[in-house]
Amino acid sequence: MRVTVDGVEVEAASGQTVAAVLLRLGRVSWRTTREAGRPRGIFCGIGVCHDCLVVVNGVPDVRACQRLVGDGDDVRTQHGAELPS
Ligand code: FES
Repeated sequence: MRVTVDGVEVEAASGQTVAAVLLRLGRVSWRTTREAGRPRGIFCGIGVCHDCLVVVNGVPDVRACQRLVGDGDDVRTQHGAELPS
């Protein structure tokens, strides 16, 4: 299947998480923290820490370690978080 990551079309396999696709591309961060702008990526890998938030198909705060990619998904880097602190 094909997905788009920050505007670049890439190959992805069925059953991969968004985080797996990003890591395979060599990305170690895909979000910045709300106030300090520090880079974040995968940390716990089990859906608990919310460090891996990313925008998928225009929806922010998607946990990349939990979301399986779908054909045609549009994955975007997220700046900060939409979640309340
Ligand atoms: S890496 Fe912790 S929630 Fe995704």
